[in-house]
Amino acid sequence: MNRIDLLDYAHNKPAPDIPTRLFQDGHHAIYWLGIEQDTAFRCNVYLIEDGGEGYLVDPGGRPGFSQIKQRVEQIMPTGRIKGMVLCHQDPDVAASMVDWLDLHPDIKVYSSTRTHALLPHYGKLKYPAVDIVEKPVLEFSSGARLRFIEAPFLHFPGAFTSYDTASGFLFSGDIWAAVGMDWTLVSDDFNTLSFKMEMFHTDYMASNKASRGFTRKLREVDIMAILPQHGSIIPRAYVAEAIDYLNDLPCGLDLLYLSGQ
Ligand SMILES: [Fe+2]
Ligand SMILES: [Fe+2]
Repeated sequence: MNRIDLLDYAHNKPAPDIPTRLFQDGHHAIYWLGIEQDTAFRCNVYLIEDGGEGYLVDPGGRPGFSQIKQRVEQIMPTGRIKGMVLCHQDPDVAASMVDWLDLHPDIKVYSSTRTHALLPHYGKLKYPAVDIVEKPVLEFSSGARLRFIEAPFLHFPGAFTSYDTASGFLFSGDIWAAVGMDWTLVSDDFNTLSFKMEMFHTDYMASNKASRGFTRKLREVDIMAILPQHGSIIPRAYVAEAIDYLNDLPCGLDLLYLSGQ
């Protein structure tokens, strides 16, 4: 049972230089690792801690590596990082994989078949790869699970999201990502947040067919919060609204080729 009220972070800015715990139940915890840079294009890095082992979700670009490493060290020695989940291959998500693998070459990299085809171009030709299309569930030592839910063309053909069964948190990568200077770690106003999501989604997401197809997969998923790679966390109170937004969103090709032109 999580005793942390995410909505507290809608009003109180978390310290940017230390990890912020978002969930804790026994030996399973989830952290947001913090951002010091004041930029409109913030990249959120999350850490799942389970039974003393760590799993980084979208560890980020190379310039942020030493900062993220310091944050991890405030929670556990980096040698306890067992895995990295990379929702697609974009550099803001995945480039620091090479720095983590330099440090600990046995860290497993969880990603989709299409993403694994591109990741070696960051410089590691061989690394411990787990294909989430073949193995759609990661089981932690506590028995909690991370379920991978594919999200084709949102925005990469091999994009996917990760659902943590213990917390009910959905790590959504670029989906529900928002961009803007006026930022809170957690949103308590989906209407305002959706304006900040608009430009990113209409430009990046392939089409309503893709977004609607993905929301259909979420019907049976009990989501307590959505944790995107950019922008604000969407707490339980706004999850249904966020899913409706994505479901009804005209984007990408819908707008680029209006009326079939
Ligand atoms: Fe991306
Ligand atoms: Fe991104």
